Amino acid sequence: MSAPGYAPRAAAAHLLNGVLTEHRLLSDMVNSKDGPLAKLPPQGKARAQSLANDTLRHLGRIDIVIDQFMQKEPPASVRNALRLATCELIVDKIPPHAAVDAVVRLVKNNRQTTRMAGMANAVARRISEHGAEIWADLEPTPLPPYLAKPIRKAYGKDVLAAIEQAHENGAPIDITLQSQADTDDLAEALEASVLSTGSLRLFEWGQISTMPGFEEGAWWVQDASAAIPAQLLGDISGKKVLDICAAPGGKTMQLAAAGADVTAIDLSKYRMERVQENLTRTKLSAELVVADVLKYQPDQKFASILLDAPCSATGTIRRHPDLPYAKAELTLQPVLDLQKQMLVQAASWLETGGQMVFCTCSLLPAEGEEQVAEFLESHPDFERVAINPEAHGLQPDWIDANGAMRLRPDFWADRGGMDGFYAAILKKRA
Ligand SMILES: C[S@@+](CC[C@H](N)C(=O)[O-])C[C@H]1O[C@@H](n2cnc3c(N)ncnc32)[C@H](O)[C@@H]1O
Repeated sequence: MSAPGYAPRAAAAHLLNGVLTEHRLLSDMVNSKDGPLAKLPPQGKARAQSLANDTLRHLGRIDIVIDQFMQKEPPASVRNALRLATCELIVDKIPPHAAVDAVVRLVKNNRQTTRMAGMANAVARRISEHGAEIWADLEPTPLPPYLAKPIRKAYGKDVLAAIEQAHENGAPIDITLQSQADTDDLAEALEASVLSTGSLRLFEWGQISTMPGFEEGAWWVQDASAAIPAQLLGDISGKKVLDICAAPGGKTMQLAAAGADVTAIDLSKYRMERVQENLTRTKLSAELVVADVLKYQPDQKFASILLDAPCSATGTIRRHPDLPYAKAELTLQPVLDLQKQMLVQAASWLETGGQMVFCTCSLLPAEGEEQVAEFLESHPDFERVAINPEAHGLQPDWIDANGAMRLRPDFWADRGGMDGFYAAILKKRA
């Protein structure tokens, strides 16, 4: 990889400080009009983001390497500059002088740390000489204990290790097609592989908006796991379907493309604007409602409902390596209460005999298996419908004993992995 300039590195350092010191989310900083990336050209933005993401993805190993060469803990901004340099040296393999010069400039340009530039220079040089050997023997970056504990409890220590490895591996780009009839043509044009679930997968890509078929609205970016829940509603052509918690609209587009008469609801006006943009580009339509699900009262019932509830997003860490660090602990109860209330609301809006899919991009049973079990206990008018794995290109062992889908990031490890997801089909008895 060629060495990027100073400005993207300085922006990446800001992003890292924001996540690790201020516990902010990368997405909030990246999209902010006066954020660290605001003044960078598109290429610089992309480089700053990928450098910050890669550094966070390998943070555990990076820190162990740095610690071998440092006697005394430096200020956070100096450690973060060294973290970026270590990532550039070992993960991106850029020429050592460029990474070492960059860390020296970062440390020098901060008045409070100028005097530490010599130390940073020495540490970075030693990392460039010996870091890779140490790295090779290290385990993948562990999740912070507040996340590792519930995941180990749910799946055991071997699966936790496999999930941590999947997080370090990162993620390819998956694409959902508006029409399956385009699969072969678009797979060829995009040089993508076709997954059994219907998504296309790319391991290399450029600017998304210039890729074949994007401008015409033939496809949208959506993780292969995230593309499954909407399919579980079956044939919805011509039916009234409610998409609850719709933004930014990946599932709304799937439902509309399947021929449903879609009403999509989300609390966020800003995120709903992304849904409208997506629908406009793909020439699909849906009625968009900006409202709080807990206060909304539709004037009709729906034949099918998709509830993609807000959650810890623990299934998406390989795409969002900042998530484990943007919080210091797991405060699940408020979101569990919200999911529970949303399920109750959704249940009251479903026609008798209709089906609802409840899903979350979480690895935690409390936000999936346990949430659904609790709902069924208090709603005897609902029953489970077992998911047929073959009908959706899923492996049979991805379906649990109750017929619900449990996906994990360590699945399909040899094919680039997938986000963690839970989905269950719930039917209102006739
Ligand atoms: C997991 S995301 C949805 C992703 C979306 N279904 C897709 O496929 O692109 C959760 C969404 O829930 C929305 N949300 C959170 N609380 C809400 C509430 N009380 N009422 C409506 N929407 C809410 C958020 O704004 C967010 O867009």
